[in-house]
Amino acid sequence: MNDAAISPPPAGAAIKNSMTRTRAQLVGYGTYLPVNLVTNDELAKTVDTSDAWIRERTGIRQRYLAAPHETCAFMATRAAQAALASSGVPPSEIGAVILATATPDQAFPATATRVQAALGVGGFAFDMSAACSGFVFALGMADSLIRSGAIRAAVVIGAEVYSRILDWTDRGTCVLFGDGAGAVVLRATDGDDSAPGILSTHLHSDGNLGDILYVDGAVGRRDLPGHLIMNGREVFRHAVSRMSEAIDEALAANHLARTDIDWLIPHQANRRIIDGIGKKLGLDETQVVVTVDRHANTSAASIPLALAAAIDDGRIKPGQLILLGALGGGLTWASALIRL
Ligand code: UT7
Repeated sequence: MNDAAISPPPAGAAIKNSMTRTRAQLVGYGTYLPVNLVTNDELAKTVDTSDAWIRERTGIRQRYLAAPHETCAFMATRAAQAALASSGVPPSEIGAVILATATPDQAFPATATRVQAALGVGGFAFDMSAACSGFVFALGMADSLIRSGAIRAAVVIGAEVYSRILDWTDRGTCVLFGDGAGAVVLRATDGDDSAPGILSTHLHSDGNLGDILYVDGAVGRRDLPGHLIMNGREVFRHAVSRMSEAIDEALAANHLARTDIDWLIPHQANRRIIDGIGKKLGLDETQVVVTVDRHANTSAASIPLALAAAIDDGRIKPGQLILLGALGGGLTWASALIRL
């Protein structure tokens, strides 16, 4: 044994070492949107609604709706393939595929396993059910697996086909949602808090609020059609407060102020909710990424789709601090802080 191995390190080095740890770095991203773009005016031909109402109450202009071949697995695979290609991570390094979805193709096997097969990766794959918070929950799981050393890299996907579970006679819900998928690749890296990586995730649920947003169907329940049911006003009431709380929790855990944040990417459900969170947090409007106007609410896919849009158009740059905030059925809510 040499002397260096047993003598205590200088104080500075000890502090640096204690801050350096394995974390998950976001090294690739990809998206898939269905080919069928439907504007509010087009929707108003079959639903008792109007472009003016939808824009004013939600900020939504259009949504993409899946064709029959655009299944959850199909869209998730396309997004994941793009994410893997952009990451440069070899498929052999992927230890897990985690797919956040409320609209899997089958009760089982998990749609994630279909994606795993299509990607040709090993490890393990599973679906994550946390509705619109699903992507942040999946990010939290992958981050924990990487931090613990269980895996070295993961594909994390949010993919949804809500068009299949909407009641197209209920104008209060069917105009709000869209289909699509977004994926990221996470890889283990060593660094301190100024290095790129996921700095924290905070996940919450309160099952007492399960009845304000749910699907009235389940495997084996032939009496229930399996449609999305929402008490919009109640969900709205919780959305701003819970997402803001989770975001503040992330800032406190990382000893950061709101002014340290470069970008906020909230779940894209309603422009009024997004503006409400930005205002509550005192952020400038230009720091908040908004894609609900073009994608509508794509549930677990909304955050990775928004993240990709803001990287692609050059707004989000390497080194910047990005806060994610989500809320969905369950009720579930969550935040994640990422240095890109
Ligand atoms: O992703 C999971 C999280 N989800 C959310 O965060 C959604 C949260 N909730 C919301 O975004 C809003 O509550 C909605 C967009 C769903 C609804 O907005 P609202 O301002 O709360 O409207 P409302 O439900 O109170 O309805 C107001 C009026 C009603 O008419 P009356 O009773 O005042 O005559 C509705 O019948 O608007 C009517 N309405 C519509 N009119 C035209 C409801 N939907 C429509 C529609 N087109 N599509």
